[in-house]
Amino acid sequence: MFKALVLHKAGDEVTAAIEQLDEARLPEGDVTVAVEASTLNYKDGLIVRNKAPLVRSFPHVPGIDLAGRVVESGHPEYRPGDAVILTGWGVGERHWGGYATRARVKGDWLVPMPQGWTSRQAMAVGTAGFTAMLAVMALENHGLKPGDGEVLVTGGAGGVGSVAIALLAKLGHQVTASTGRAASHDYLRSLGASALIDRAELTAPSDRPLESERFVGCIDSVGGTTLARVLAQMKYRRSVAAVGLAGGSQLNTTVIPFLLRGVNLLGIDSVYQPAEPRRAAWQRLARDLDLARLEAIIQPATLEDLPRLAGEILKGQVQGRVVVDLG
Ligand SMILES: NC(=O)c1ccc[n+]([C@@H]2O[C@H](COP(=O)([O-])OP(=O)(O)OC[C@H]3O[C@@H](n4cnc5c(N)ncnc54)[C@H](OP(=O)(O)O)[C@@H]3O)[C@@H](O)[C@H]2O)c1
Repeated sequence: MFKALVLHKAGDEVTAAIEQLDEARLPEGDVTVAVEASTLNYKDGLIVRNKAPLVRSFPHVPGIDLAGRVVESGHPEYRPGDAVILTGWGVGERHWGGYATRARVKGDWLVPMPQGWTSRQAMAVGTAGFTAMLAVMALENHGLKPGDGEVLVTGGAGGVGSVAIALLAKLGHQVTASTGRAASHDYLRSLGASALIDRAELTAPSDRPLESERFVGCIDSVGGTTLARVLAQMKYRRSVAAVGLAGGSQLNTTVIPFLLRGVNLLGIDSVYQPAEPRRAAWQRLARDLDLARLEAIIQPATLEDLPRLAGEILKGQVQGRVVVDLG
């Protein structure tokens, strides 16, 4: 038997309950993992609170991320006892996920745990931190170097934002964070932000296709008007990594920043990122993320806390990274 947070659907209503399930009910897969930790991402909030039609079949065990130890494996690369991480691949959406003490998954979806890391640290990174790393790498591939100038991180106090700030600061970049929470200012400075912008400065629409050139790079978790305003404020030939839609999925803008300033808009997907760049990103995280800063952004939680926290993340009230202890 194993313990899980299970979602049930009746009519349009989805309810969550903690249950003991038989291991025979685990889905198909060639690796069984004793889950030690999971986390909470914005997408988990959408799934647990039934705010987006991401889950097709119920009962369902959510949790898009997990970390733990292999207990059984038919996959050539993994043996019992191996420490592993899983993010994305539709786990927690179409396949049962990490809000459980056991998971059965495809070995091809797993990534080996970086040397010396714990499951707790891996889940403090989770999809949010992995995505932040992919965004940093995309900006670097488009020429961003430390010393170039001001790099903006929107949604600064959120999961992606917090890890992005910590990573960029450790790499020597000058980081400006935008946030809607004045109470997060000290937190954002402690992560390495050297300047702060009130979120409202970017969410207010502008009818000017170009504004003063300011940023040499941006990691954007917010989308909507914020992304439109950021595009108009990028310096010549600089890039924005579009990661999220916490402020809206519509992008109402003009092509002028692309045509007159050569600005690049880089799409970031963490879910189906192929194995090779996926492993490269986790290796970069192991090298470039300050673990002391990572510890400082952890909000510990249990399975029982998740329905409440899922509501809070959708309201933008979660700061940093939730780590769910399942060990
Ligand atoms: N592309 C991918 O593969 C990928 C992977 C992970 C996440 N994402 C997306 O990235 C976004 C962030 O994910 P997350 O896990 O970091 O979520 P999160 O922890 O909730 O962070 C989002 C942050 O955005 C800001 N925000 C929230 N509502 C806003 C609004 N209405 N207007 C402006 N800013 C707002 C808040 O920051 P402040 O309080 O500091 O303003 C909030 O903390 C989500 O949209 C998520 O779906 C995409």
